[in-house]
Amino acid sequence: GDGTGVSLAFTRIPIFFTDLLSFYSEDYGKSFHDVSHTINNTFIKKDFGISAGPGNPQQVILTANLPFTESPGGVIFTSMDAGVTFRSVQLPFHPAQAIQFHYQDPKYLVVISIDDGLWLSEDFGNSWSEVHEGVHTFTWGSGITLFFSSSPKGTARRGELILRRTQDVGKNFTTIAKNIFSFGYIGGFLFTSVMEKLGSPRIIYVSSDQGDHFRKAQLPSATTEQFYSVLDGDEDMIFMHVDNPGDTYFGTIYTSDDRGILYSKSLERHLFGGEGKSDFTNVTSLRGVYLTNILEEDGRIRSVITFDRGGRWRFLKKPENVNCPETSKKCSLHIHGEHSHFSGITPMLPLSEPTAIGLVIAHGSVGDSISAARPDVYVSGDGGYTWWGTLRGPHHYSILDSGGLIVAVEAHRDRQISSIKFSTDEGQCWKVFNFTDHPIFLAGLASEPGTKTMNISIFGYRPDDDDQPMWVAVTIDFEHLLTRECGEEDYVQWLAHSDYDSDPETDGCLLGYKETFRRLKKLSACRNGRGYVVSRQQRPCPCTREDYMCEYGFYRHENTSECLLQPDFLNQTQDICLNGELEDLQNTGYRKIPGDKCEEGVRPPRREDVFKKLCGNDISPTSANSHTKRSVIDYIFIFAFACLLFLLLRISLNEQHLNTGNYSGFKDKCELFQMNLITQAL
Ligand SMILES: *[C@@H]1O[C@H](CO)[C@@H](O)[C@H](O)[C@H]1NC(C)=O
Ligand SMILES: *[C@@H]1O[C@H](CO)[C@@H](O)[C@H](O)[C@H]1NC(C)=O
Ligand SMILES: *[C@@H]1O[C@H](CO)[C@@H](O)[C@H](O)[C@H]1NC(C)=O
Ligand SMILES: *[C@@H]1O[C@H](CO)[C@@H](O)[C@H](O)[C@H]1NC(C)=O
Ligand SMILES: *[C@@H]1O[C@H](CO)[C@@H](O)[C@H](O)[C@H]1NC(C)=O
Repeated sequence: GDGTGVSLAFTRIPIFFTDLLSFYSEDYGKSFHDVSHTINNTFIKKDFGISAGPGNPQQVILTANLPFTESPGGVIFTSMDAGVTFRSVQLPFHPAQAIQFHYQDPKYLVVISIDDGLWLSEDFGNSWSEVHEGVHTFTWGSGITLFFSSSPKGTARRGELILRRTQDVGKNFTTIAKNIFSFGYIGGFLFTSVMEKLGSPRIIYVSSDQGDHFRKAQLPSATTEQFYSVLDGDEDMIFMHVDNPGDTYFGTIYTSDDRGILYSKSLERHLFGGEGKSDFTNVTSLRGVYLTNILEEDGRIRSVITFDRGGRWRFLKKPENVNCPETSKKCSLHIHGEHSHFSGITPMLPLSEPTAIGLVIAHGSVGDSISAARPDVYVSGDGGYTWWGTLRGPHHYSILDSGGLIVAVEAHRDRQISSIKFSTDEGQCWKVFNFTDHPIFLAGLASEPGTKTMNISIFGYRPDDDDQPMWVAVTIDFEHLLTRECGEEDYVQWLAHSDYDSDPETDGCLLGYKETFRRLKKLSACRNGRGYVVSRQQRPCPCTREDYMCEYGFYRHENTSECLLQPDFLNQTQDICLNGELEDLQNTGYRKIPGDKCEEGVRPPRREDVFKKLCGNDISPTSANSHTKRSVIDYIFIFAFACLLFLLLRISLNEQHLNTGNYSGFKDKCELFQMNLITQAL
């Protein structure tokens, strides 16, 4: 929890595989004591036993693991003081999942029972009431609005579910959609995927007013086998992946307008694995930056990055200090995401934090396409424009002191470790610190959420004398190393997204404004401290064509970047005209990109007449189905490739020597000045 220093640890006794004992620490993990007695030595469920409040880390709920036969319902333990004291509550039902908190208000809890009842508590778990039956899934909307899908007759298939809403915690209900397949609520947008007839293609409807009104999203419709996935979203817009037909393992990313209904194609051939995993990553340390992987026609996986929230994607620049393999033709940096993490190739996902401006740490490889053989660690200090090869081999890593300090520990499955690496200059130089004389098998790193702390816990286990594994946590407080508080002279002004040589008026402009941050100089070995806040200045930019997207029915001409009416649009307009949505569509062919704050500059030309003409005409409905045709051979190829992909990724793990021939290693660029400083401190 933020600033509390409290860690709760639950350990598993080797002989009872599903049960956990609890330990408590209030000094950032430096010492733990057994607090199992505070919950009467009850065992806690392993799969969903522990939840902590999102708005208030002092709130903890534990779900007991008791045999079903012993009681009419489950038992939970609730704590309002980060686990110092617990009170036990006998539930009138058995929960089927972890108890869900409201994201802000600590009073409200919701859960679905094993017999599909929706149970609510308005007093942090003391009393519960069943407010609805036959419930599949639920999610909180804005305020205390609760959405849930349920089956009217109890046995409905997906596609026959109804979507209901309650805005007074279960007293009154409104049915807001029928025949839904699934629904979701992201960044203020409520989505439903609907089958208008059973077995017909699914269509997405979006509401931005908590379900009062739904509008059809302008996206290709998906069959039952295909899927949509909302990759990320906020109050401005969302990123939506639409699967390609067939088991292709790729699809297309679309970005939405501010209403969530108008979509522009952003990225084709976006990799999306069979187990519902995507490598799509929001680089949270710089506005507008996202990373992901594409599956190319030749079957290779390559990484792409966008700096303007999906407007344009490009390959990642090769790090200056790493050479390309000799055979390489299109050499760039490739980043391992969720797929590699899931397959056990990398121990960590890419890491970035909103408080550590511009900093990104990730596993990757350099070459024509991604290589699983030996992922190394790369770092970027400017939000992904330029990269630096920083550590060889897989590591666990963590950002501390708002980016002033990075720590990393080598990840080995079969070897014990005893040292931690740290860098105060965004990974240019690393120092090693031996933290123990008794090496441990690493399980992971743990630190307080956010990046303010300088305490990092390394946890793992070591066999003790009679060969029983024993859990160990070592906490290192880097305040003893970085003793100097940063002063004004340690900071510089940094213009984000700058290319340093374009027109100073437009340099750094993104979505209509530019931001200058106060950042720590790379060579400053000092501490930002707990009180550090990111300081930024915003300035508006003049509007350009890039600040507008093409309105529905228009496309961007490749050479002039003007929005032109789509030739086949006449065939598709009946939807808009019939649904009375015309008045909302701006009649210029252009629409300002959501969240864009540009001022003055280019104004799109007006074409008032276009839509009036279109809807005035009597247009007969025609099939708008125009899937790109692929030959059977293509499908077989892609399918075979996808099957091989994960196999290969795994096999290559054991064949590390294959890659070392091409591998040039990182050239060192440590600053002597700084190393001296740190050596003195040690
Ligand atoms: C533990 O058990 C005692 C005696 O049965 C009971 O009074 C107490 O409330 C229990 N405490 C918790 C946290 O369950
Ligand atoms: C990406 O992360 C940033 C920083 O946390 C957040 O403000 C933004 O809304 C996220 N973008 C999307 C599309 O979710
Ligand atoms: C740390 O340990 C390694 C090997 O165990 C040793 O080579 C190295 O000198 C030690 N470093 C320090 C600073 O003690
Ligand atoms: C590190 O932990 C100690 C307690 O062991 C605490 O006093 C200190 O404030 C922590 N440092 C930070 C930056 O969180
Ligand atoms: C765009 O410009 C290129 C090169 O000038 C030309 O070959 C191409 O045909 C143009 N595209 C269109 C759609 O006019």
